[in-house]
Amino acid sequence: MSLLPIHLLGDPILREETVPVTEFTDELRTLVDDMFETMYAASGIGLAAPQVGRRERLAVVDVEGAKYALINPEITLAEGKAKAEEACLSFPDVYGTVERATRVIVKAQDVEGTPYEVDATDLLARCFQHEIDHLHGKLFIDYLSYLKRRAALAEWEELRKQYHGTVRYLKPGAPADDDAEPSVSEA
Ligand code: NI
Repeated sequence: MSLLPIHLLGDPILREETVPVTEFTDELRTLVDDMFETMYAASGIGLAAPQVGRRERLAVVDVEGAKYALINPEITLAEGKAKAEEACLSFPDVYGTVERATRVIVKAQDVEGTPYEVDATDLLARCFQHEIDHLHGKLFIDYLSYLKRRAALAEWEELRKQYHGTVRYLKPGAPADDDAEPSVSEA
């Protein structure tokens, strides 16, 4: 397995639509394994293919041990509403409050192509929505008011100076970039 570089806000791939996965190959399974490894190394709870520079409609999630490879995921039911703070591995340390459904049913395929359905609530439901948004070029800052989005982008302009270019390389075995435990899980 290998750690993949994480593409940062400013890289156009984060705004592109993904392409449905039609072939469930060993290459796909390796990509999924690498994405899980990358997500854990970044101390994240979710990671979508565009964040590692890929166009497959695929994301990985691990919320408190609830672990999913979401291939071609679709939300088939969304209900309830709640606001909570979110963060994203593609622009670390920028936070924003986003209203999301509190329960979603997601239809997806696993790495073998077998269809499955998950009924998720709370943080898992929020993480699914955040990742599925990534697969359609959407980021959590898009939900912020004009002023809050502008403030978040200004913050990112400062923070991004510590990275060189539009990718971020993780160090193997070293969780996240800093010693402070983030208050909000990044996805
Ligand atoms: Ni994200």
